[in-house]
Amino acid sequence: MLKDSILQDFEDRRGEPLSGQFLAEKYNVSRNAVWKAVNSLKEEGYNIVSGKNRGYYLDTSSDKVSVQSIRSFLPDSIKNMNLICLEEIDSTNNEMKRHIIDGIESPSIIYADMQTGGRGRLGRSFYSPSGKGIYMSLYYRVPGGVRNPMLITMAAAVAVIDAIEKLTDIKPSVKWVNDIYIGDRKTAGILTEAVTDLETGLSENVIVGIGINVKKEDFPSDIRYKVTSLGKDDLNRSEFVAEIASGLLKYYADMNPDDFMDKYISHSNVSGKRVKYEVNGESVIGKVIEVMKDGALSVRREDGTIDNITTGEILFHESKR
Ligand code: BTN
Repeated sequence: MLKDSILQDFEDRRGEPLSGQFLAEKYNVSRNAVWKAVNSLKEEGYNIVSGKNRGYYLDTSSDKVSVQSIRSFLPDSIKNMNLICLEEIDSTNNEMKRHIIDGIESPSIIYADMQTGGRGRLGRSFYSPSGKGIYMSLYYRVPGGVRNPMLITMAAAVAVIDAIEKLTDIKPSVKWVNDIYIGDRKTAGILTEAVTDLETGLSENVIVGIGINVKKEDFPSDIRYKVTSLGKDDLNRSEFVAEIASGLLKYYADMNPDDFMDKYISHSNVSGKRVKYEVNGESVIGKVIEVMKDGALSVRREDGTIDNITTGEILFHESKR
């Protein structure tokens, strides 16, 4: 569609006026057709500035996320990857599952501006208000099936940390396995799911869902004291999505822990902390020794027993002293 192509031009050359004549010649259409396309983009909420003899341009501060805006920030190696952008969806992971059944290509990304049924780990919900965060899912096919799901999630955590550190001055940390923290509050979560082929029994279709609280936000009272946002109202979310996408695909290309585990470990916030976790359905308290190179969490129980945990989650457990 003409308006999609013109939007790509605006996104690729943000802030730079493009004349109606130039666009009309580029797409071999009338200037009136260009004018109509620009107007319909304005109606969709794009902040396009137009002035006499100055042409049209997209305001540099525009933060409306679109396929075109994300694409304008993707590196050449993945410039043409499949992207889907939605105003609203129940959950981008759910939507990706529906697309996998229909045969979507790998890799693909679905981004939504808000989720009405955002899902977290262990059946929890993920607060996903409109225009405030990033809610995205990557579909990635792993021929032969996933061998170590924990590493997929840990690589994703590092891709999120990389993007935060590249685009902001914030120093995030990671709570094993995949909660991204700023200080003592969670700011992003990752939900990795696999779609198993019932005939082969293989989990070749991986969905990595990432939710990040980006802009300043009044969180609902039940989570207010546990979560925070990056607090960056001027951050370009399209650039953020593109950074994360390129990080994920970089790490997943080889799935070699050497590429991301050192960074994961150096950003871990759990060493030395007292934590509560479950072993064979029994609740246990221990002190974290370290995150190991294979991703397992090594914890010493109060009776000295060492557990190397590879599944489930840990809760920070305050000392009674
Ligand atoms: C967690 O913190 O427990 C995981 C949160 C994962 C949230 C993201 S938002 C995009 C994707 N869609 C979902 O429904 N969940 C993930």
